[in-house]
Amino acid sequence: MLPHKQIELQLATAVRNALPDAELSAFLVRPCPDPKFGDYQCNALMALAKARKLNPRQLAADVLAKLDVSEICEKVESAGAGFLNFRLNNSALERTLEAAARGDHLFFEKVAQPKTVVIDFSSPNAAKPMHVGHIRSTILGDALARALRLLGHRVITDNHIGDWGTQFGMLLVGWKRFLDRNALSRDPVAEMERLYKLVNAASATDETVRDAARLELVKLQGADPANLGIWREMIGLSQKQFDEIYSRLGVKFDHALGESFYNPKLKSLVEELRARGLARESEGATVVFFDDHPQLQAHPLIVRKSDGGFNYATTDLATLAYRCETWRPDEIIYVTDGRQQLHFQQVFAAFRQWRSQLPASHCQLPKLAHVWFGSILGEDGKPFKTRSGETVRLADLLDEAEERAFQIVSEKNPGLPEAQRRDIARVVGLGAVKYADLLPNRQSDYVFSWEKMLALNGNTAPYLQYACARIRSIFRKAEGESQKAEIVPTAPQEIALAKQLLNFGLTLEAVAEEHRPNFLCNYLFELAGRFTAFYENCPVLKAAEATRASRLALCDLTARVLKQGLDTLGIQTLEQM
Ligand code: ARG
Repeated sequence: MLPHKQIELQLATAVRNALPDAELSAFLVRPCPDPKFGDYQCNALMALAKARKLNPRQLAADVLAKLDVSEICEKVESAGAGFLNFRLNNSALERTLEAAARGDHLFFEKVAQPKTVVIDFSSPNAAKPMHVGHIRSTILGDALARALRLLGHRVITDNHIGDWGTQFGMLLVGWKRFLDRNALSRDPVAEMERLYKLVNAASATDETVRDAARLELVKLQGADPANLGIWREMIGLSQKQFDEIYSRLGVKFDHALGESFYNPKLKSLVEELRARGLARESEGATVVFFDDHPQLQAHPLIVRKSDGGFNYATTDLATLAYRCETWRPDEIIYVTDGRQQLHFQQVFAAFRQWRSQLPASHCQLPKLAHVWFGSILGEDGKPFKTRSGETVRLADLLDEAEERAFQIVSEKNPGLPEAQRRDIARVVGLGAVKYADLLPNRQSDYVFSWEKMLALNGNTAPYLQYACARIRSIFRKAEGESQKAEIVPTAPQEIALAKQLLNFGLTLEAVAEEHRPNFLCNYLFELAGRFTAFYENCPVLKAAEATRASRLALCDLTARVLKQGLDTLGIQTLEQM
């Protein structure tokens, strides 16, 4: 038997069998919100009673009288106005655990109908340092990609790098006039940032600099060979920086089609929008209006500026069209910060207006999701900055995470060789940063705190990694013993732990459906807590033979779920900490 879907389906079917004239789909059975009342709950009778003008309590009593779920449940109880509460019986629990121990499942199942999902995440801007703001998109997007893949969906990740914006006009002027080759070879991104800032500041007061930047940009867009060469060099140098960070974070992309990739498509796109009457001239610019869209009426979308240039929105429309035609996705997910909400609402609305004019065969409109997040704050509640008030570079942040973790590991395990302490510190430090980013509701701002995220007790990655390592150490002590797959949870803490294991699949599905990895963080924290309660109350290695084997198997399943769960968050685990 597979948790949780089959359990739920079996219960729903039993309820329907007691009421054969109703639809099965009406009897949704879900985990009980409060375990005090049971493990699963069906609240469908209320609506049914209302529709049939019956008394819900009476209907529940009638169903109860006919209901037979003794194979998997203890006595069923009705509560309130028509709730049915089910508690899994021990034999169903044991069968599920044993199937997992045999390797038949790990408490989740692949979806029956895989979707094709494109995830647009990370998407930093070229020639600029990746800073702390990019970590959220990178980490969240990666976790969503992993969760969806684990459930069997076809996931295509695409890094929409900002490699073609007006910033290149400034950068080209800077490069031609002020480039310091030595500085460039030492720290390319810092040198490009210096050039950009220099020219940007000059252009604020000096019109000739502004004009020069505009001219260089026009030449670049017109494929001037010299400018294209410089641009390519800048992109290559940035890409190296991105690759270093991604490899440290263990993040991979299937594609990195930056904004420049879409440049050749923009002109004809705007022409098509005009020809279809979707965009029109307004004050020299070409604009899409949303006349039938109450929220967007006041926010038309510029797709061609009055100087003839295309913009971020034009590129995003071209990107959407390309993705739809190339990959035919069921869903496209964009992971960016909350300040881009209006942008995506406009782009999605413009795209829908456009697509509604095309024959359906041309391309099914995918579900479009803007998965946005809040900002990272310093402990003073203001945007997170370095002591000197600059934005925090991502590379520096990761260095500091590893260094701080190294201090902690060295205090705890001074005896371990340094190389091993470094290795542990890397896994713990990066894990801590990632987890701190994934744990809060993504739409709220969160306060960045080294102390909190590195704490060994608390809802942190180190705490969960430690729980994994602790289970591994039990197995080192139990060395050489084969695991028997008979699992009989009896103590209350054992049953509570086992039941939490059963909720893994449900949690993964919620993460995938609602694009919220924090559900998985909280699930794993609860699992580790129940494991601790179990371990403190139920002897494992010292227990009598059969109990010992059963408890060891339960430990092993817990470690596997913790590891798989952390892996889904992009966080590694360790044998020893
Ligand atoms: N480069 C953009 C930024 O740093 C994010 C791009 C997000 N993706 C997209 N298709 N617009 O803000």
